[in-house]
Amino acid sequence: HPLSGFVVAIDGPSGSGKSSVSKQVARTLGYAYLDTGAMYRALTWWCLDRHVDLDDPAAVAAAAEDFPLDIGTDPDAPHVLVGGADVAEAIRETRISTSVSKVATVIPVRELLRLLQRQLISKAGAARGGVVVEGRDITTVVAPDASVRILLTASEEARLARRSRELHGDADETSVSATRAQIVDRDRLDSTVSVFTVAADGVTTVDTSELDFDGSVRAVLHIVAAARA
Ligand code: DC
Repeated sequence: HPLSGFVVAIDGPSGSGKSSVSKQVARTLGYAYLDTGAMYRALTWWCLDRHVDLDDPAAVAAAAEDFPLDIGTDPDAPHVLVGGADVAEAIRETRISTSVSKVATVIPVRELLRLLQRQLISKAGAARGGVVVEGRDITTVVAPDASVRILLTASEEARLARRSRELHGDADETSVSATRAQIVDRDRLDSTVSVFTVAADGVTTVDTSELDFDGSVRAVLHIVAAARA
């Protein structure tokens, strides 16, 4: 089915500023916001809660078949419920961040979540006129038919410094090297199933290495405005 509403698809690696920028762009435009990474995180939480062996792709795929997810698309009040449990904070814990790639690299899991994501995008797009969707494979696989497709990138140095500040409050040498183990390794694993380091045909790259938060938001809004004109 074709998507309804104006869809802004944003992909990028960890620390590109993707989540905060996408959410702010959605707020500014009055659009819905879908964080697809939160869906993979919530499924990881569900697998761990049910003691599913994450090293067994068939078991993970089976768990995904009856995954009771309820995810909101309001950028000001996003909720993530799994079987009625509010997991919005729990899915940001280190135990999830370090194991989510095991779930996200299971192909049948990706196929199931892609269907769910397209339903959510259409519903939110119809309700609000538009939706900003962020992830790793949105511009290429989930919504290659999106109205606007953007790859948000930044140098490894800039991404490490940002994520290090988020995780540890600073970007000194110790924090950066602790962060490197988490994000560089994770991106390497995730890259085996999605390409999010080079822009696909028709996808516009926004390099945020030299941009602050407001500058990154403005750059994305500029591309959206040009596409709507
Ligand atoms: O963006 P994030 O850190 O919340 O993403 C969590 C994990 O899910 C990360 O390992 C990449 C993966 N992911 C994916 O494979 N495809 C997406 N569309 C979104 C996230």
